[in-house]
Amino acid sequence: MSKRFYLETVGCQMNVLDSELVASGLARAGYEPAATRRAADVVLFNTCSVRQHAEDKIYSELGRLKRAKEQNPLKIIGVLGCMAQKDGPLIFRRAPHVDLVVGPSHLGELPRLLDEVAAGAGPVIAISEDRNQENHRQVRESLSFVPFDPARQVDSRAAAHQAMVRAAFGCDKCCSYCIVPSVRGPEQSRPIGRIEEEVRQLARRAMEREVALEVTLVGQTVNSYHYADGGRTFRLADVLERLNAVEGLARLKFVTSHPRHMTADLIQAVRDLDKASPYFHVPAQSGSDGVLKRMRRGYTAAAYREMLSAIRETVPGAAVTSDFIVGFCGETEEDFQKTVDLVGEARFKNSFIFKYSPRPGTYAADHYADDVHEDVKRRRNNELLAVQNAISEEDNRPLVGRRVEILVEGPSKTSVRRQSEGEVVQLVGRTTCDRIVVFDGTEKLVGQIVPVQVEEAHAFTLFGRTAEPRMNADERG
Ligand code: 5AD
Ligand code: SF4
Repeated sequence: MSKRFYLETVGCQMNVLDSELVASGLARAGYEPAATRRAADVVLFNTCSVRQHAEDKIYSELGRLKRAKEQNPLKIIGVLGCMAQKDGPLIFRRAPHVDLVVGPSHLGELPRLLDEVAAGAGPVIAISEDRNQENHRQVRESLSFVPFDPARQVDSRAAAHQAMVRAAFGCDKCCSYCIVPSVRGPEQSRPIGRIEEEVRQLARRAMEREVALEVTLVGQTVNSYHYADGGRTFRLADVLERLNAVEGLARLKFVTSHPRHMTADLIQAVRDLDKASPYFHVPAQSGSDGVLKRMRRGYTAAAYREMLSAIRETVPGAAVTSDFIVGFCGETEEDFQKTVDLVGEARFKNSFIFKYSPRPGTYAADHYADDVHEDVKRRRNNELLAVQNAISEEDNRPLVGRRVEILVEGPSKTSVRRQSEGEVVQLVGRTTCDRIVVFDGTEKLVGQIVPVQVEEAHAFTLFGRTAEPRMNADERG
């Protein structure tokens, strides 16, 4: 009987993509997915280290598996991803029933490592050399962070209409609060030809299944993409242009962008390429120059505003989203007010707001006191969220009565699965600007791009009904 695995994923798009590749690698090695942790022979957690809270949750989940391991010592428990890289052997000390610890660069070895554990090799660990103890150049040469970049098995994915495709690995920025460069290694852009080939494969399959394909290019700072080949350096705008020509591809997005690399050619590419979605996720983190400096973000609030104006002028109607950290070391009320002002002015479609969480080994954790009280962090978080939500709702309201083109993602979470196929269910999809739209339709619409008339607008969701297709429907939602 083949072995069954259960894989749980937290964290960012990188992790979601890694998990997909891991699952497909395990399937090729003869494993089958299990429906629950209990039914699995191998339980894996793909983890995140970006905030303490994410780690605490994993340790508590691991704790809950102790009994299961006692009852079935053959059950293999593995910790993958960023926290595996960051905590390494500490995980075995805190959770002695864990069998396997595998960092992001070593995920390709997973089937072999599982065999080792099953053969009784004891706790097994595969992580990269600590990047903090060397300078970047040495790490690059030692190749301790060789990217996990297996050939994509496109048939292994359930959804043929949406895919993430990696543009780059790792990160070369040195934001003082951030653990990512040390757990994911240096920035390494994937060859443009490899990206194109993968997208062509995905597009072929989408055409076979008669669905529209949306590809999201992912990278920690995706817009700093640079790949040299044959005397030429390709940038993200070149990648978008290349992919725009792929038959069967309908929509193209990229996340996450760094404000400093939001160049005019990239913004123009989004304007000019018909498949590029008018959507930019470009985190500001703070509106205060003092805080941005301590965060080592490499730009001022004025420079961020300028970048934003360039987007607004070049791609009118584009949606821009941001991330913010509140309560960073030394953040005063005045600093915070500057962030509130930026959010008020910038009219982001939405913002992800986080309370600062010191990460051991980062510059900020080593050099600055975490001196904003938890209550103050929480208050600032709520206050900023309220400002943002009011804007999100206000900016969604004018969409009521308009017709938008929706890529249907699937049944909404609240929709109950119906018995017969042609029955109407609640569906959820997105506009090209990444706005979520809920409406009724049959499941055969999943993967299609359909016109929807918006009838109701909330801060995070639009509600509507399917509309008749119309010529010249070029509305952007
Ligand atoms: N504390 C809180 N938030 C953080 N982020 C990154 N590091 C930290 C940290 N130490 C946030 C940033 C980033 C998002 C993915 O997570 O806003 O853009
Ligand atoms: Fe979390 Fe960062 Fe790792 Fe993504 S790259 S899983 S956000 S620590």
